[in-house]
Amino acid sequence: MLKGKHILLGITGSIAAYKAAVLCRLLKTAGADVQVVMTPLAKQFITPLTMATLSKNPILVEFFNPENGAWNSHVALGEWADCYLIAPATANTLAKMAHGIADNLLLTTYLSSRAPVVVAPAMDLDMFAHATTQRNLSELRQTGVHVIEPEDGELASGLSGKGRMAEPSQIVAFVDALLEEKKKNLQGKRFIVTAGATIEAIDPVRFISNHSSGKMGYAIAGELAERGADVLLVTGRTALPTPTGVTRCDILSAEEMHRAVVEAFDSADGAVMCAAVADYTPEHCADRKLKKNDDDLVIRLRRTKDIAAELGSRKGDRILVGFALETDDEEAHAREKLERKHFDFIVLNSLRDTGAGFRGDTNKVTFIDAAGSEALPLLSKREVARRIADKIEGLIQK
Ligand code: CTP
Repeated sequence: MLKGKHILLGITGSIAAYKAAVLCRLLKTAGADVQVVMTPLAKQFITPLTMATLSKNPILVEFFNPENGAWNSHVALGEWADCYLIAPATANTLAKMAHGIADNLLLTTYLSSRAPVVVAPAMDLDMFAHATTQRNLSELRQTGVHVIEPEDGELASGLSGKGRMAEPSQIVAFVDALLEEKKKNLQGKRFIVTAGATIEAIDPVRFISNHSSGKMGYAIAGELAERGADVLLVTGRTALPTPTGVTRCDILSAEEMHRAVVEAFDSADGAVMCAAVADYTPEHCADRKLKKNDDDLVIRLRRTKDIAAELGSRKGDRILVGFALETDDEEAHAREKLERKHFDFIVLNSLRDTGAGFRGDTNKVTFIDAAGSEALPLLSKREVARRIADKIEGLIQK
């Protein structure tokens, strides 16, 4: 898969830079063309001579060649790359990437490249666990940067914990899978994906909603579109960018989501019901802002329409995938929903699992269908989306 691919390897100033030599070697053996760009500090950890010899290309560090003044064009480098792999990536470089700081060639290239970007962080455990680093990583993930999680183990500081750069062979496997041409197995299929939380108005100012971020649904919509499907994403309010190739329909309330989904279902081949739809909505929405007084306030709620159940009752041979978020007796509750709503399979999250659920970038799910259940390990939401798409493809091929 990597044969003939252009890999731009960015190296930053971490002790793990020595592993970049092995990484470069593995990429070359797999048939890739490699160019290396280093931060000035990285040169202290591994010599440009080593990297130039292994990559068979001159190393780029400065904006200009100090000898002849020739410009090292970050734009041309970015255009050349099929993948920009930054390994090791220090906390400092990740922070600068997250904030658009461009004070060296490695960073200007990051800003101007349209190639997929992969980072393999390497740092001390406390730096990695620090809220600032985690926030920066989360922002980078949201802009589409792929993060290869560091490993748990002994660190250069003598401490032991999570922060060791992933092994070069693992990094190469990741890049290989990323650049694999996605087979357009869902070409010609139309899917609806619901995502995010609905908002049920109490008055012009207040509402009832829930903690759903929409990340899981957006990842699924993007994955189905990458596989060639025509995707309609019916979404509650989120701060997420629309995935490439996806048609987006913004709604607020459960009622609006119901209307948009039911209308599109007739011409669809399937639907993935990932939204956290409010089960109750205020019976009346006040025209004006409610004013407080000394009494308690009672708001009468009525049931919303169950969109998934309605699609299930007339699904025919369409594919219908549901979600269940439970806190107890998880599998029994999910199975009951599977049958009642006629889902082909249901994706169960338990709020008891760490790393699963609402706002994070990871999820731990179990697939449940008529035949049994399959528990997946803790995965990125992107990877969970891939597994869901694989299962949908399996159902279509049946
Ligand atoms: N769903 C829907 N329309 C609704 C409610 C839920 O489409 N009005 C879908 C969700 O997108 C999800 C599944 O149904 O795929 C969740 O089932 P549900 O029984 O509604 O779960 P909860 O809302 O968590 O309800 P419960 O209180 O029964 O656990």
